[in-house]
Amino acid sequence: MPGSATPAALPAAHRVVLGLQWGDEGKGKIIDVLAAHCDLVVRCQGGANAGHTVVVGGRKTVLHLLPSGILHRHVRCLIGHGVVLDPVALGHELDELAAGGCDIAGRLLISERAHLVLPTHPLLDRAYEAARGAGKVGTTLRGIGPCYADKALRTGIRAGDLVDLPAVERAVRARIAHANALAQAWGVEPLDADAALASWLPAAQRIAPLVGDAIAALHAAVDAGQRVLFEGAQGVQLDIDVGTYPFVTSSNTGIGGVLTGTGISHRQIGEVIGVIKAYTTRVGSGPFVTELADERGERLRQRGQEFGATTGRPRRCGWLDLVAVRQACRLNGVDALALTKLDILDGEPELALCVAYRLDGRELTAPPARCADLERVQPVYEVLPGWQRPVSGARGVADLPEAARAYIARIERFLAVPVRWIGTGAARDALIERAP
Ligand code: GDP
Ligand code: IMO
Ligand code: MG
Repeated sequence: MPGSATPAALPAAHRVVLGLQWGDEGKGKIIDVLAAHCDLVVRCQGGANAGHTVVVGGRKTVLHLLPSGILHRHVRCLIGHGVVLDPVALGHELDELAAGGCDIAGRLLISERAHLVLPTHPLLDRAYEAARGAGKVGTTLRGIGPCYADKALRTGIRAGDLVDLPAVERAVRARIAHANALAQAWGVEPLDADAALASWLPAAQRIAPLVGDAIAALHAAVDAGQRVLFEGAQGVQLDIDVGTYPFVTSSNTGIGGVLTGTGISHRQIGEVIGVIKAYTTRVGSGPFVTELADERGERLRQRGQEFGATTGRPRRCGWLDLVAVRQACRLNGVDALALTKLDILDGEPELALCVAYRLDGRELTAPPARCADLERVQPVYEVLPGWQRPVSGARGVADLPEAARAYIARIERFLAVPVRWIGTGAARDALIERAP
């Protein structure tokens, strides 16, 4: 039979974890939990704009570039070519992990095709944001957009180039001269090339031994029957194509970014897991249909400690927007959901779920493309009773208050996707898992 012995005929066990909102859904925690049953965890896109929190034994670790499986000693980690890698940020992260007693020796491989964040990129990020004035995106200022721009312009420098460090130094100096000319025109303080390289070059040199052929390593793992977990960063509403453009990040944050950012084939993806918070948060500017600019939003922010894991900025808070999440489920073929931070809703007298959008007298079932329209959209809410008994400590769904079960059931019915995991606290074990 033609093709019967090809890898395509093997069962595809590999899992993808994606954020379905505006990031910070709790992907780090879910990946950490799932990584216990995996051999390899792979970051696919984004860079140090991500902040993925893992809490183990009361100790909190925030990962920016390292895959969130790294705390499991048996797990190997790959940074795929879709990631934009800041050597200085990675160096800090490696130091922090080492200080916490986490040994990564022999467990981390960086794709030789991954683009490097250069000293010019945060500079240009600041310059572009300043030039946008009131219309600023509210980026993390980690140089993400300018690095992806250099990649698209074919003026980037890749991790594999570090085999020739003197050539990299010459190229970075040329990029700095170019960026400084732009910065000067925009009235932004230019870079001192020597000072910038004094920290960047040693950091780049340090990571050079970790760089290699990540595509080969990934496929070797797949062919050997190992279990691979792909870690999305940001969230689908921040996707450069289908998100709330231009208030988005500069990569494809959905399943497309997993494929193009790692070299895995679509046939090898077994399950797509979408992570959603039990309410909605957003950092930075841009439309937010269900935002609560009142004491209820403030209560969610304080109870949920909604302050950015990367920048410390307060996150904007609002009700769960099922219209946006349903679109994300459709576009990414989401098989199962992880619903996080249910505990933060404890004690709310009532909860609202956004089940449709209204614009100019019409009802919309999916988000409109233009931000100008999205800014004018009115949410259509379904109001459900809250629960007064804490959900923390619940070991199974049966232990949850009836109103919490009804809230979850409504989400599942609306999205037509099962909720397989329910987060009841930040710790690794504060998670209910339901049988598929
Ligand atoms: P990520 O970017 O998607 O990995 O999410 P972040 O780490 O930026 O933000 C999620 C925050 O919520 C972190 O502080 C987590 O420790 C925390 N968290 C995750 N799941 C839960 C949960 O179920 N309950 C509570 N209370 N906190 C959670
Ligand atoms: P994780 O992986 C939340 C947001 C920024 C800004 C926009 C563009 O932790 O969920 P960028 O620096 O990427 O050019 O900023 O995207 N943003 C995130 N918001 N979580 C993230 O990552 C984010 N990464 C970027 O706040 O609005
Ligand atoms: Mg985060």
